[in-house]
Amino acid sequence: MTHQPPAPYNVPSVLHGTRFLVNGHLESWTGPSSEVRSPIMTELDGGTERTLLGSVPDLPAEEGIRALEAACDAYDHGRGQWPSSSASDRIEAMEKFISLIEPKRDQVAELLMWEIGKKRSDAEKEFDRTIVYLKDTIEEYKNLHREGSHISQVSGVLAQIRRGPLGVVLCLGPFNYPLNETFCVLLPAILMGNTCVFKPAKYGVLLMVPLLEAFAESFPPGVVNIVFGRGRTLASPIMQSGRVDVLALIGNSKSSNALISQHPKPNRVRQVLGLEAKNPAVVFPDADLELAVKECVKGAWSFNGQRCTALKVVYVHKDIREKFLEAFARATDNLVMGSPLVDADITPLPEVGKVEAMQAYIDEAVQKGASVINGRGGTVEGNMMFPAILYPVDRDTAIFKEEQFGPVCPVLEFDDFHDVLKDIAESDYGQQVSVFTANHETAGRAIDQLVNQVCRVNLNATCQRGPDTLPFTGRKDSAVSTLSVKAALRSFSIRTLVACNASQKDLVEGIVAGGHSEFSSMNYLL
Ligand code: G3H
Repeated sequence: MTHQPPAPYNVPSVLHGTRFLVNGHLESWTGPSSEVRSPIMTELDGGTERTLLGSVPDLPAEEGIRALEAACDAYDHGRGQWPSSSASDRIEAMEKFISLIEPKRDQVAELLMWEIGKKRSDAEKEFDRTIVYLKDTIEEYKNLHREGSHISQVSGVLAQIRRGPLGVVLCLGPFNYPLNETFCVLLPAILMGNTCVFKPAKYGVLLMVPLLEAFAESFPPGVVNIVFGRGRTLASPIMQSGRVDVLALIGNSKSSNALISQHPKPNRVRQVLGLEAKNPAVVFPDADLELAVKECVKGAWSFNGQRCTALKVVYVHKDIREKFLEAFARATDNLVMGSPLVDADITPLPEVGKVEAMQAYIDEAVQKGASVINGRGGTVEGNMMFPAILYPVDRDTAIFKEEQFGPVCPVLEFDDFHDVLKDIAESDYGQQVSVFTANHETAGRAIDQLVNQVCRVNLNATCQRGPDTLPFTGRKDSAVSTLSVKAALRSFSIRTLVACNASQKDLVEGIVAGGHSEFSSMNYLL
């Protein structure tokens, strides 16, 4: 297996990001920077090293605070230009932004492959899905605006209700969907009239460099501010300032709790969080075996298991266990491990130390009685690990209890479905579950016992977020707030209304007819 990029793919030219965005200005940075290296290795004389892709600024706390001040000034307690601008002005800015980033598709997809090892087709899909999401968000925003363009009368009170912005948003994205998951919170937040400080994740950061200009050119100064550097250095002082109204974070509850606890008035912070999960697949004896295996392979191993929605534990009924495991192992062993550039299924892991962390899960489970049941499972080549299926897994193991976020999946046998339900009830996570059965009664009963434990029950299909118009959320440590094209706009806003006694009808009519208020208008956006 070669670690060199296969022909005709060359290493991209080194990209040194030396700018960051504060108050509408792309400022140059000549201070310390952090190298960005690829999980794809380059061969050197006598060894290999992570390919150098470029660098980004490693900004100090003061620059983060300057970005925060720019966002606070632009919001100006809700009286700033952006929070009080018309819906059509905001839509125009957003459309301009989309038109400026669309031509960057190939460059962004290329960087996604090189920076986080996402395979080519998935990297392209991530970009395309994001563009569709942003366009759909505009349509949904128009709907929201239309819903607010009427005045209702209740118990002698005239009232007009709209959704308004919340204030200043601190947005922190994840490495596994650094474009999609970040933009699916950042852009709805902006469109609703909030202002933002955005710090990209540690991995999947360079792809923001070619997009900086689009932000600067599309939105008024201070509406979006983009800083690069360490979370602890930048985000902590921003939270400690007490000036953040919304924390939008896709990551884990440890980070979000640490940040929230630094805010002097945590009750004031709206949390929009996509966090860890441990989605189970439950395979009943009457499942369509072929379908269950196909979906489990997709669910457990897509992007090496590095998806919050990945299947992270499989329960299989004892009557079908042998056949299922044999087929699951065979289908897994047929996956192709190699370069993301040629669309291999299993690709290099971007996080330093990840292979070792996966190996530790395997070692402990094996020590407690499990075996790796697929022939290629756990094979390591550099920073790639071939997916390992572990069976039978003891409940007293880290791989059973923790979110592994990588290419190892524990399997447990069950006889009584109540044992599975007990595990799900006791788990810290509550995002989704996949149920595999062809039996109507089994499916119906499983649905009723699971819907109040998780937030999506998938029937004969893997867990997943899409289509993006569906609500995406979780219980317990898996999420706070709901995301979807429509729900994100709601999560980043609050209902606010103008009300008066019906005797004030003439006043209201005068305001509306004279076009004296942006809020109290009946303009109907088409
Ligand atoms: O990592 C979490 C993602 O939101 C999952 O999205 O189900 O489309 O891969 P996906």
